[in-house]
Amino acid sequence: MEKTYLETIRETAAFIKEKVGELPQIAVILGTGLGELVNHIEIKAELDYHTIPNFPVSTVEGHSGKLIFGNLGGKYIMAMQGRFHYYEGYDMKQVTFPVRVMRELGVETLFVSNAAGGMNKEFRVGDVMIITDHINLFPENPLRGKNYDELGPRFPAMTEAYCNALVNMADDIAREDNIRLMHGVYVGTPGPTFETPAEYEYFRVIGGDAVGMSTVPEVIVANHAGMRVFGVSVITDLGGKDIKEVPTHEEVQKAAIKAQPVMTHIIKQMLERI
Ligand code: HPA
Repeated sequence: MEKTYLETIRETAAFIKEKVGELPQIAVILGTGLGELVNHIEIKAELDYHTIPNFPVSTVEGHSGKLIFGNLGGKYIMAMQGRFHYYEGYDMKQVTFPVRVMRELGVETLFVSNAAGGMNKEFRVGDVMIITDHINLFPENPLRGKNYDELGPRFPAMTEAYCNALVNMADDIAREDNIRLMHGVYVGTPGPTFETPAEYEYFRVIGGDAVGMSTVPEVIVANHAGMRVFGVSVITDLGGKDIKEVPTHEEVQKAAIKAQPVMTHIIKQMLERI
């Protein structure tokens, strides 16, 4: 008989538990070009995605595909180096599968990072934006279909999808260390196209500050599962009707890599304070 979704989650979690002794309560999903954080982790165990049962395999350039367990900022954490994007062809259950597994392993706090295009006119390339809220423009919600009450409620609230206390903590760190830290609403789109000038404009008008092709599905599932979430975007390009520059994957990666030290600093400091 075919396994249920719940069974695949539990099977994968059991596999990881057996391979990795200690289990974390904190997880970090590393987005485009932000894998550098891994260099700061005192690594205890690593699992390639392709060795983990039921795990999708990452394909995009710049995403290597590993679960890493180790110490960072005085805390034992797990990190996802490489995530699964909807535009790669994965369905929403696959995109969010690792978050389900994290929860099953006992993770309570999720950090997510990504690269995003900025619509807010105050933003500059290289800015770091704390995600305070999001707008889901993916064509499908990852919770569509049968709800497993063991995983979370049928109709979860999304009123504090990004934990206010963690936003405040990041603000404190930025103030103390003189870091320019923006706040904003992240618009999640399926991609893989970057936006037309009219689309950037539209996303700004509906309340968005930055737009990207990830994060929202994972954050929905994390909230469904009762996790608290902290999200951060690196603004890698700007969009709107007055912007002439054309975004490319290479530029996005370059800008993200440049912002890595700031991102790493904030996340490390937060882990120390959590
Ligand atoms: N649009 C969508 N996704 C992105 C962008 C963008 O401008 N920049 C980085 N990821």
